[in-house]
Amino acid sequence: MIVVKIGGSVLDSELPCLVDEVVSLQKSGERVILVHGGQFQLNEAMKQKGLEIRLVDGLRFTSKEVLELAEEVFNNISVKIKSEIEKQGLKCLILNKDTGFVKSRQNKELGFVGVPEMVDVAVLKNIPENVIPVVPSVTAGMNSSDFGFNCNADDVAGFIASKIKAERLVLLTDVDGVFDGNRNLLTTLTMKQAGDMIEGKTIIGGMIPKVHTCVKALKSGVEKCHIIKGCSKPLISEIINGKVVGTTVQR
Ligand SMILES: Nc1ncnc2c1ncn2[C@@H]1O[C@H](COP(=O)(O)OP(=O)(O)O)[C@@H](O)[C@H]1O
Ligand SMILES: [Mg+2]
Repeated sequence: MIVVKIGGSVLDSELPCLVDEVVSLQKSGERVILVHGGQFQLNEAMKQKGLEIRLVDGLRFTSKEVLELAEEVFNNISVKIKSEIEKQGLKCLILNKDTGFVKSRQNKELGFVGVPEMVDVAVLKNIPENVIPVVPSVTAGMNSSDFGFNCNADDVAGFIASKIKAERLVLLTDVDGVFDGNRNLLTTLTMKQAGDMIEGKTIIGGMIPKVHTCVKALKSGVEKCHIIKGCSKPLISEIINGKVVGTTVQR
């Protein structure tokens, strides 16, 4: 299994390209799970409503109002991905908050933000080969009384990858990978380097949860963790074929 998190631009103009690649991978016998948030789309929706955007180290402070808006925005994105998958000849199962596929615990410091705690792994076992699961990053809470929580989509993807013992975790973003202090692309990043670069503020903002996610995933047994640019060409296939693409996070 390959868990692919789609972020940033991939959700917009690059979606047909990404789905094309995922559909090809799936048809060639790989099993892919797509995880997404929708940072840009949520920012736009928040601006329209006059809601203040606050990001703390790449994580969004989430009021109840923002949480409800995020759920709506992300569900719309899931539907968009589903219709693109269907257009390209496969089926899609949306595993959103209401399905309880992922459950998270509240990180109160950030309001209604959650940290993933549980994945219903059994659900995946029953999914036929022609179906691609799509998981948005607003998840259910651990208690049935919880409305749900806004999770970072990188975190959700990494958590799922760990729990299902995925072969590979691929975080697609809007840059080629992780840059060093001189904006040179690092083809590999060790866990030690990652910690140093976060501490030294060479890795900031939205790249922090990505790198943390890869480190956590490596520690829980996901062997291959990549941060690469969204779909301008079929990069995921290139990685599978052993090409050096973007940044590979390593022990
Ligand atoms: N060292 C770094 N190397 C590459 N990108 C970085 C680095 N530090 C911070 N970033 C930022 O992280 C961003 C990606 O995270 P984010 O904006 O959350 O995108 P996504 O929607 O893919 O999650 C990049 O666009 C870049 O501005
Ligand atoms: Mg992000």
